[in-house]
Amino acid sequence: MTALKGVRVLDLTHAHAGPICTMMMGAMGAEIIKIEPQWGDMTRMFPPLVKGQSPYFVFLDRCKKGVTLDLKNPKGKELFKELVKKSDVVMENFSAGTMDRLDLGWDVLRELNPRVIYASISGFGHTGPWKDRRSFDPIAQATSGYMWLMKDAFNPDGPPMQAPDAIADTIPGYTCLIGILAALNHRHNTGKGQRVDVAQMDSMIGVMQSFSFWKLADTTMRQAGRTAGVAVSGLHKTSDGYVMFSLPAGRITDWFKELLGVEELTKEAIETWVSEKTTNEVVELLAKTGVPVGPVLDLDQVMENEHAAAREMFVKVDHPILGEITEPGFPIKFSDTKGDITAPAPLLGEHNEEVYTRLLGLSNEDVDALRKEGVI
Ligand SMILES: CC(C)(COP(=O)(O)OP(=O)(O)OC[C@H]1O[C@@H](n2cnc3c(N)ncnc32)[C@H](O)[C@@H]1OP(=O)(O)O)[C@@H](O)C(=O)NCCC(=O)NCCS
Repeated sequence: MTALKGVRVLDLTHAHAGPICTMMMGAMGAEIIKIEPQWGDMTRMFPPLVKGQSPYFVFLDRCKKGVTLDLKNPKGKELFKELVKKSDVVMENFSAGTMDRLDLGWDVLRELNPRVIYASISGFGHTGPWKDRRSFDPIAQATSGYMWLMKDAFNPDGPPMQAPDAIADTIPGYTCLIGILAALNHRHNTGKGQRVDVAQMDSMIGVMQSFSFWKLADTTMRQAGRTAGVAVSGLHKTSDGYVMFSLPAGRITDWFKELLGVEELTKEAIETWVSEKTTNEVVELLAKTGVPVGPVLDLDQVMENEHAAAREMFVKVDHPILGEITEPGFPIKFSDTKGDITAPAPLLGEHNEEVYTRLLGLSNEDVDALRKEGVI
C-alpha cells in the first residue's frame, strides 16, 4: 500500500517546477499520466543528450506514464475532457492564460468534474500585474530577492549571484505539492475540488526568513550571523579539504572550547586547530563532541557516502535506453507506505495504448487511427 494509492493525476507539466511535483506524487503511489504534445516536453532536449536522453528529463519524470495528445485538436480536447472526468488532479505549469486559450480553464474543468483539483505553477501566479509574464528558475531567483541574498552572503561587493541548482523551481514544486495534498484532504471533507494557484516568486518569498530580519532589524540572516559573534561557525579549511560547523551560543560552544582547551574562542585558534587536521579527523572529533559538523563533499563523495546509502538516497533505475542508472532516491521515509522512485521516465508516447484503451475503452485500432490523424 502506498500513501497516494488511488489518486490519478493528469500531468500537463513541462520543464522543472511542475514535473518535480508530480514526480513526488508518483513516488508516493499516485498514477501520473504525463500528457505531452507530439514534440515532447522541452527538457527531453536539454543538453547534453546521452543516447538521445536528457539527464534532466530522466531525473524529473520518473514514476509517470507518458502519453501524447494534441490539445489544440478538437478530438484531442474531447479525449482530454474524458480523462478529466476520471481523474483527481489536473496539474500544469504553462504561462498563465494558456489553459483558458485552450478552452480548458478551471471553469471548464470543474464543470466536467466538481471533485477535480486543478493545480498550476506559473512565474507570477494567475492574478496581479505580472501574471502574463513567462518565467524560469533564474527569473524567480532574481525577482524574489534570492539572487541579491546570494551576493550578500558570498560576495557583498560583487554582482547578484544565481544558486546553481534550480531552487526556484524545486521550492514552487514542493509548495504546489503541499497545496495539492491539502486540497485532497479538503475534498475528502467536503467532496469538492478546488483551484491551487502557485507562483514561483511567491513560493520563494514565502520561505525566505531574511525578509523578517530585514524588516525588523535592518539586516539579513547572514549579516546578523557575522556580526553577532557566531562568525566562527562556517566553512573552515583542513589539511586536505573543507569542513562546515556551527557554534551557537550555549552548551555546543562550551563543548567546543573544552575540546580545544581554551577559555575564549578566537578565529585564529580555531583556524590553526582545524588546519592541522584532516577533514575526517575534524569531523570525527566534533561529531563525537556534539558539535554540528559535516565534511564538504563533492558529488562523487555524496554518491559514495555510507550514510546516504543507509538512507537509500541513491537508487537504481532500469531505463529502457540507458540501462541501469543511479538517481537520487525518495527523501520521505514513511513507516508503512514506502515511497519508490525507481520507475524510469517514459519515452515519448510510451503508454498511449495502455492509457487510452484502459481508461477510455478505446481499441488498439482506435489508438492507431488517432495516431494517424495526428491527435496523439
Ligand atoms: C516555461 C515557459 C517559460 C515556457 O514558455 P512556452 O514554451 O512559450 O510555453 P507556454 O506555457 O507559454 O505555452 C505553451 C504552448 O504550448 C501549447 N501546448 C502545450 N501542451 C500542448 C499539447 N499537449 N497540445 C497542443 N498544444 C500544447 C499551449 O497551448 C501553448 O500554446 P499557445 O502559446 O499557442 O497558447 C512557460 O510555460 C512558463 O512561464 N511557465 C510557468 C513558469 C514555469 O513553470 N516555468 C518553468 C520553470 S522550470
